Amino acid sequence: MGLLEVKNLTKAFGGLLAVNDVSFHVEEGEIVGLIGPNGSGKTTTFNCINQFFPVTSGDILFKGKSIIGLKTHKICHLGIGRTFQVVKPLARMTVLENVTASAFCRVNTIKEAKDEALRVLEFCNLADQNDKLAKSLPIAGRKRLEIARSLATKPNLLLLDEVAAGLNPGELDEAIDLIKKIRDNGISILIVEHIMKVIMTISDRIHAINFGQTIAEGIPQEVANNQAVIEAYLGEQHAQG
Ligand SMILES: Nc1ncnc2c1ncn2[C@@H]1O[C@H](COP(=O)(O)OP(=O)(O)OP(=O)(O)O)[C@@H](O)[C@H]1O
Ligand SMILES: [Mg+2]
Repeated sequence: MGLLEVKNLTKAFGGLLAVNDVSFHVEEGEIVGLIGPNGSGKTTTFNCINQFFPVTSGDILFKGKSIIGLKTHKICHLGIGRTFQVVKPLARMTVLENVTASAFCRVNTIKEAKDEALRVLEFCNLADQNDKLAKSLPIAGRKRLEIARSLATKPNLLLLDEVAAGLNPGELDEAIDLIKKIRDNGISILIVEHIMKVIMTISDRIHAINFGQTIAEGIPQEVANNQAVIEAYLGEQHAQG
């Protein structure tokens, strides 16, 4: 039994099938990459998993039980953390206050929440930024803060949505190290990322979608050489060019 099992997930926005009969799973201890061109349904899949959006059909099981219809905060409490593609810090609060607020997911006192936040910020190499306002951080810091906020909810499964976007090569290597460190601490990961260096380096398996539908799945090497995946990305490149 997988930690997360997505079964025949479909999400329609009016007549648009943003996610169309997609099935995949994440095992305990795995890093699974979810890839696809812009608009292929990756973020929508995340929004369905934490029930930010109601699903149109299909089922999502976490630890063997369906989470369809549960409130988003309940799903967080069950152990699914997530980051947002467009980071959403509490801009006028400090880095420490942001992470402390998330830690209240598991504890009831300010002291416990702050202690947990300090631990997580240390883990994320952000401790030297604790007193800065969230909005003053550069992009790499904001992405790291987004990860820290989700870690403070103590997830078993973390959904990472483009946490490496906008980073320079040095920052990318640091992000890869952090993601591996998170997994080594027993947290399974489902990651959406366009930067192939990141996704190919860290994923145990990759699930590729295009126009909301599965086009390939397998180990990174297999998916990278898959004709449908190559066409989906080349097509996108031509469209942009
Ligand atoms: N709230 C919404 N209402 C209507 N349509 C939406 C909504 N959210 C997403 N969509 C549409 O669903 C499709 C999938 O969008 P989604 O954001 O999931 O793509 P994505 O794979 O995350 O893309 P990107 O790589 O650009 O982040 C797109 O056509 C998008 O316009
Ligand atoms: Mg997206």
